[in-house]
Amino acid sequence: MSSTPALVVEGLTKHFGGRTAFSEASFTVEPGEVFGFLGPNGAGKTSTVRTLGTLIAPTAGSAVVAGLPLTPANGVGIRRRISVMPESPGLYLRLTVAENLEFFAGLHELPGARDRIERALRAVNLSDRAGDPCRALSKGLRQRVGLARALLNDPTVLFLDEPTSGLDPVAAREVHDLIADLRGRGVTIFLTTHRLAEAERLCDRVAIMNTTLRTIGRPDELRERLFRKSLEVRTRAPLADPDRVFGALDGVESWQLDGSGAYVLAVSDPDSAAPAAVRALVAADADVLSLSQSQHSLEDVYLRLIESDPEVSAA
Ligand SMILES: Nc1ncnc2c1ncn2[C@@H]1O[C@H](COP(=O)(O)OP(=O)(O)O)[C@@H](O)[C@H]1O
Ligand SMILES: [Mg+2]
Repeated sequence: MSSTPALVVEGLTKHFGGRTAFSEASFTVEPGEVFGFLGPNGAGKTSTVRTLGTLIAPTAGSAVVAGLPLTPANGVGIRRRISVMPESPGLYLRLTVAENLEFFAGLHELPGARDRIERALRAVNLSDRAGDPCRALSKGLRQRVGLARALLNDPTVLFLDEPTSGLDPVAAREVHDLIADLRGRGVTIFLTTHRLAEAERLCDRVAIMNTTLRTIGRPDELRERLFRKSLEVRTRAPLADPDRVFGALDGVESWQLDGSGAYVLAVSDPDSAAPAAVRALVAADADVLSLSQSQHSLEDVYLRLIESDPEVSAA
């Protein structure tokens, strides 16, 4: 696997007239990564994909896409190495699956079209539907044809813009499986989504975007960065003097009683604080029902970032 980054983006900005689609985006995507680009509607996800995909020109900033600087002169070279699957697959519904792929292979002047089409159809498990008119396919299957179309040029970087938007859970799951397959083959995937669970499940790293880049990291890192860790202790009866039990414990920064009667301890290191808390509870003769580490989903991180966003709050 090459160590040249799949994408290097620096200060990338796009204005449409007076409107800012996205501003000052800087990030790097490693080869073979599934990189999630997460944000609400209007966050600038599609504009970023179209810019990196050479479909529109940036207003400011720079990028290197699949090893080539993003310049008008490199447009053709970049488009040879990447693919963009837009939100709606843009198929000719009267044509069959195979005819659509033949058309697009011809449009891009790809050599060895027949082999490419066969491989792309196999990759999306649609070989047996090659002769069906696209009109007769469900939305989920059309999305898979769109993915086959995007695979025709064997891209090293594949941009998928909300690939599961509007799909039912079964069809969405199939697209997830296909993405996992592609990743297994070393294709770098830039996935935009507003579905948090999707980002959390599929992505090595996630950028949270809302016109500007809010944060970036592995899903578990983002959770840790934004939330203090905590331990939740449940006892059969309220503690007589909880401050004496928890107040003096090493590694417990503070404690509070939550609405459900559980003691929530803010800790820096749950692995050392949990055994100490158990010892203190036992010493205090407390009947412990449970002690657990609190879990936060990426959704908590996301909502917190969006919450603290003046633009979104104002909207
Ligand atoms: N071609 C365009 N002309 C003018 N404004 C646009 C155009 N494309 C997108 N925008 C604006 O840019 C902002 C970001 O849009 P978009 O990139 O589509 O966001 P997302 O994909 O995250 O929903 C929105 O305010 C949108 O209205
Ligand atoms: Mg979009």
